[in-house]
Amino acid sequence: MAFICLDIRCLFIFLICTEFSYTFSSNTEIKVNPPRDFVIVDPGYLGYLYLQWQPPLALENFKECTIEYELQYRNINSERWKTIITKNLYYKDGFDLNQGIEAKVHTLLSRQCTNGSEAQSSWSEATYWTSEQGSLETKIQDMDCVYYNWQYLACSWKPGMGAQFDTNYTLFYWYEGLEHALQCVDYIKSNGINIGCRFPSLESADYKDFFVCVNGSSESKPIRSSYFIFQLQNIVKPLPPDYLNLTVKNIFEINLKWSTPKGPIPAICFIYEIVLTGDDTSWMV
Ligand SMILES: *[C@@H]1O[C@H](CO)[C@@H](O)[C@H](O)[C@H]1NC(C)=O
Ligand SMILES: *[C@@H]1O[C@H](CO)[C@@H](O)[C@H](O)[C@H]1NC(C)=O
Ligand SMILES: *[C@@H]1O[C@H](CO)[C@@H](O)[C@H](O)[C@H]1NC(C)=O
Ligand SMILES: *[C@@H]1O[C@H](CO)[C@@H](O)[C@H](O)[C@H]1NC(C)=O
Repeated sequence: MAFICLDIRCLFIFLICTEFSYTFSSNTEIKVNPPRDFVIVDPGYLGYLYLQWQPPLALENFKECTIEYELQYRNINSERWKTIITKNLYYKDGFDLNQGIEAKVHTLLSRQCTNGSEAQSSWSEATYWTSEQGSLETKIQDMDCVYYNWQYLACSWKPGMGAQFDTNYTLFYWYEGLEHALQCVDYIKSNGINIGCRFPSLESADYKDFFVCVNGSSESKPIRSSYFIFQLQNIVKPLPPDYLNLTVKNIFEINLKWSTPKGPIPAICFIYEIVLTGDDTSWMV
């Protein structure tokens, strides 16, 4: 019995407490408006988008306060939201334009302004889709981009399965530092159709997102665009060693000697793999 009494008393105290704190917080509740005119702007950089908004209305009540914004965004279909807290009225990031984008932002008031309770507004929301013309079968397939020896970028692709014979593709690219997206100037062709691109030498393009769009045209039907984002340093394919010198000392000792590949990659970055066979049937790595 004693235990039950105690429990009820605890419950009673607990109820009083929650009742009290509820009344307290509703009395001092501070309302703040959501940011206005939230938009996702596409400046034509093939995936690098601007998320921007205006300050909320009726901010004069919080003159002494620091206003912050919590921004959340993701590609539709992706599970995870990215969260950013900022005092700015914009944020820029790279997105996969093959899919839609959704984003939301709300206003935050710090605790100092609100006597302890954090205040936040409702969300302002925005979505963005590029115009999706053409069926999926008209998209290019098997896009492959390689940065040879950290010097020459080349991409290649196959025409879409549902593309008519008169379909021709065009490649555009952009990275931070270029004023606008550029078109490929040196296409790799097969039967008169563009199936790849050799890029000119690229200045300060590594360690940042590199955006590529391959779109196209055909007399008979619209062609669906494909978008790609990569970083150059992640798709480097080094050259093989410059020479290989094999000296057979005796049946127990073979010496192999090679030199580092020429080019901009520091020697310290290379590791080598040696594959050996004595009789062409079993190989040793
Ligand atoms: C915070 O508390 C102080 C002192 O209790 C009071 O003068 C002030 O009006 C309160 N501010 C807000 C925003 O409620
Ligand atoms: C495809 O475009 C390239 C230039 O980008 C052009 O040289 C070629 O003639 C075009 N092919 C066709 C079939 O239109
Ligand atoms: C392909 O994309 C570029 C860059 O966005 C654009 O300027 C061009 O008009 C597009 N071409 C076609 C045929 O849609
Ligand atoms: C290969 O190594 C042998 C023995 O060290 C040397 O005599 C020869 O000149 C080397 N060849 C080359 C191409 O470096």
